[in-house]
Amino acid sequence: MLAPKHLSLTITMALPVSTYFVPTAMAHCDTMDGPVVADALKALNSGDLQPVLKWLRPDDEHKIRTAFDQVRTVRKQGAEAKRLADRFFLETLVRLHRAGEGEPFTGLKPAGTDPGPAVRAADQALVDGSTKAVTEMLTAKVTEAVQTRFERVHRLSDHADDSVEAGRAYVAAYVDYAHYVKHVHASATAAEGSATLHGHAKAAHGSAGESRADPIWIMEQEHAVIGKMIDATAHLVHSLRSGQGVDRQRLAQFHEFFVNFADRCHHVKEERYLFPVLRRQGADPDVLNRLIQEHAKGREILAAVGEQLGRDPLDARARQVLAEMFDAYVKLMRQHIERENAQVWPDAKQRLGPELQHQLTTAFHVTEVLELGPLFHEEYHAMAEKLIQH
Ligand SMILES: [Fe+2]
Ligand SMILES: [Fe+2]
Repeated sequence: MLAPKHLSLTITMALPVSTYFVPTAMAHCDTMDGPVVADALKALNSGDLQPVLKWLRPDDEHKIRTAFDQVRTVRKQGAEAKRLADRFFLETLVRLHRAGEGEPFTGLKPAGTDPGPAVRAADQALVDGSTKAVTEMLTAKVTEAVQTRFERVHRLSDHADDSVEAGRAYVAAYVDYAHYVKHVHASATAAEGSATLHGHAKAAHGSAGESRADPIWIMEQEHAVIGKMIDATAHLVHSLRSGQGVDRQRLAQFHEFFVNFADRCHHVKEERYLFPVLRRQGADPDVLNRLIQEHAKGREILAAVGEQLGRDPLDARARQVLAEMFDAYVKLMRQHIERENAQVWPDAKQRLGPELQHQLTTAFHVTEVLELGPLFHEEYHAMAEKLIQH
């Protein structure tokens, strides 16, 4: 989200320092006391949409304009209609804003929700006018995390040749250690303004901070990338249906992204590690079975797309068939991701203790490095960014 500096400056003029610290510093983009909601309420009451546009990418402006017009009409029809319409507008705005950040929308949070130590420290630095505390906090966290991993690798290396199991434990610890150092370095040396889709996605696989060891957070970050590609696929369907030229290579790249990133990487991690652990921890087996069935359905659609893409010629009829297949995939995946984000992940967060979280994150990393290659994520995030921007 945008830094809340402008808000701090505005409020500074009216309030003594001690009173503006907490609400401003704690503000986050999906909370009811955050600056996005504040601007949305201002726009709804004044009829002027301009204050909210800065929170959105230019491409999303038309969506919020449409929502705003609808809401302004509906809210005139009584108190209950106004309440529901306003809620719809706030959710739409925050959803679009978070999508622009590469973050999933997980509902509007009540006022006073703690955004976590990292954002809290980053906001506080703006209020303090100094980065001292935030950089000290980051340095301490990274030092501790590197040291812990280093010691684990060292300890396990002594017994790496005792048995296959001990050898695997050593490899897993080494991969986790090396991956962590690599990604902290990548985050630390990232170009200014790079915390977009690519930056967030990279962070999901090893940035410094408390979120890194949380497998559900990693799943949410991957959903954000897949979700953006699903939105781009919906545009692709529109182009195909309206007879616009879409070359075979572009269609093949969409197909490749979903086969490799969404299915071989993301769904495999869910099916092989996360879902079995959740099942053992008492999660609803019917829900998990349904998710696996949806993965299988998605695989079927992608196989059919692959077959269709291999046909010659790729004429108007073939493009219509592809449009229907991609459309079915978009509908399936939107529903699937929504179900996991809204229903399964909140439940999973309650069921996974720190040890299980650590084991899952390590399993994710080992799968990626050993089966998909060390640059897999970077390559597919870059591909997604290119396809989305095209
Ligand atoms: Fe899934
Ligand atoms: Fe998923």
